[in-house]
Amino acid sequence: MSRETNPRPETPLPKDHRELVLKVIPMPADTNGNGDIFGGWVMAQVDLAGAVLPARYVRGRMATVAVNQFIFKQPVRVGDILSFFSHVTRVGNTSITVQVEVFAERFSAQGQYVKVTEASLTYVAIDREGRPRPIPKDGLTIPGLSG
Ligand SMILES: CC(C)(COP(=O)(O)OP(=O)(O)OC[C@H]1O[C@@H](n2cnc3c(N)ncnc32)[C@H](O)[C@@H]1OP(=O)(O)O)[C@@H](O)C(=O)NCCC(=O)NCCS
Repeated sequence: MSRETNPRPETPLPKDHRELVLKVIPMPADTNGNGDIFGGWVMAQVDLAGAVLPARYVRGRMATVAVNQFIFKQPVRVGDILSFFSHVTRVGNTSITVQVEVFAERFSAQGQYVKVTEASLTYVAIDREGRPRPIPKDGLTIPGLSG
């Protein structure tokens, strides 16, 4: 089978409250020994993308406290166009949890999307001393999040 062949059906892109928070194309320097993209590179991009929505609500410093789940569903390859979609799944007292989904447009099949990764991460609002602080709740409404 050719490396360019997509062995799984195309995935429809999200059309609901999930927001496009990052697009990036991995480069040859980001590969592992197999020639695919290094998982740690993908994790770093997901951490950056995941921080976008929490940053909107935290209004100040924050830190990643947990990667609750991380699934590599399909390999990522040099030249894929990666689209990162995110939505908030929980707002606590000091923390916000998001779900991040990553879709690839293969180098030779732009316009067709394959889900390659999904993850859940939690970010904590911190003060100047690095201690957890409450998330401002005044006027806080988050699309798609009930309660
Ligand atoms: C983030 C940090 C300040 C939190 O301090 P802490 O003493 O664990 O704080 P708390 O126990 O009060 O928890 C704070 C929030 O994080 C959540 N939390 C803590 N550990 C968690 C875990 N393992 N999974 C999910 N959420 C977690 C708590 O539920 C709480 O959220 P809530 O207030 O919304 O209920 C501290 O753990 C820290 O500095 N970690 C390093 C962060 C960092 O450097 N990140 C980059 C990694 S390279």
